[in-house]
Amino acid sequence: MADRTHKDNLDTPALIVNLDAMRHNITDMADFASAHHIRLRPHAKTHKTPTIGKMQLEAGAVGVTLAKLGEAEVFADAGFTDILIAYPLVGALKHRRLLALMERATITVTLDHVDIADSLSRTMAANGREIAVMVEVDTGMGRCGAQPGETALDIALHVARLPGLRLAGLLTHEGHAQFAGTPEQVRSTSLSAGEMMTETANLIRRVGVDVPVISVGSTATAKLTSLVEGVTEIRPGIYVFYDRGEMLHGLVPPERCAARVLATVASRPAPDRLILDAGSKALSSDGAGFAPPVGGFGYVVGYPDWNIRRLSEEHGIVSVSPDDAVQIGERVEIIPNHICPVMNLFDAMFITQGDEVIDRWPVAARGKSQ
Ligand SMILES: Cc1ncc(COP(=O)(O)O)c(C=O)c1O
Repeated sequence: MADRTHKDNLDTPALIVNLDAMRHNITDMADFASAHHIRLRPHAKTHKTPTIGKMQLEAGAVGVTLAKLGEAEVFADAGFTDILIAYPLVGALKHRRLLALMERATITVTLDHVDIADSLSRTMAANGREIAVMVEVDTGMGRCGAQPGETALDIALHVARLPGLRLAGLLTHEGHAQFAGTPEQVRSTSLSAGEMMTETANLIRRVGVDVPVISVGSTATAKLTSLVEGVTEIRPGIYVFYDRGEMLHGLVPPERCAARVLATVASRPAPDRLILDAGSKALSSDGAGFAPPVGGFGYVVGYPDWNIRRLSEEHGIVSVSPDDAVQIGERVEIIPNHICPVMNLFDAMFITQGDEVIDRWPVAARGKSQ
């Protein structure tokens, strides 16, 4: 660690993480899971940082979820022994890396198609290995996932029959539910996703095949979907920091948003426009994800009227009131729209307590896109 210093001494743009807010978020979700007898397997692609993953395990998480083999390799290097890779692994190159990873950690993978199952089975059987497989179900997100009911049943039975594969359960990412509309609609869409999962699991069980795990995801919905009887696991990711997207959902106030981009006012070319030194290289280009879309590329703490309306790579272009007294050189904290891609843009995060920087943690699994 570098010497302790004041936040004002950091060059910008910089990624800062408030340790107390992050600890609170980690404990809050772990307490929810424990009170509801649900296993917590956080999606660690949000932070990409083994040090934070260890805090989640210490709080009670059973293991981590990751999206990429490269991320899983970094976490295995750091001593993580129970990793779910929630992404279909296709092709000999990935299978070779998967086999190597299985020497170091217990790995579970997801798939949603019989062809993926067949090729994974061939690899495992040829190498005398067995891998746990979760069948991904599309409960409405329209991304990966077999349709619930008969389609998912057929794939699950196919997996259960193949050598080298063990059916571990069913998985969904009901991320769509958070955009369902009113809080009541979000709740009912989340619950119906959970019910699709338990009904599909019961179809599989009725033919005598065990479905030990029913895993659901998403920070905005984890505390709802898991209320369905039979759901066994949640995989929220963003909750560790929260972000503007989750603020707009009404999940948390700005104080709970632990990760921020520290930026400097680099220019004020017009009375109603200023430039921050945080553009898409610091904030990513992700919108806040609403339909219809909510504009802006982040929430500037303490300046709710500022609108980061456009980004170039190095420029955050902000609309302000001509009466605003802000000066060139002032520093602000931005809560990004979506924190996961922002973590991928920084080599390290500065850990803060109050206004003091107390540590610097590398984002060890950033850039692991393969
Ligand atoms: C498969 C899967 N599970 C869990 C999550 C975590 O959801 P969130 O980022 O809303 O916390 C994601 C996020 O994209 C995901 O893709």
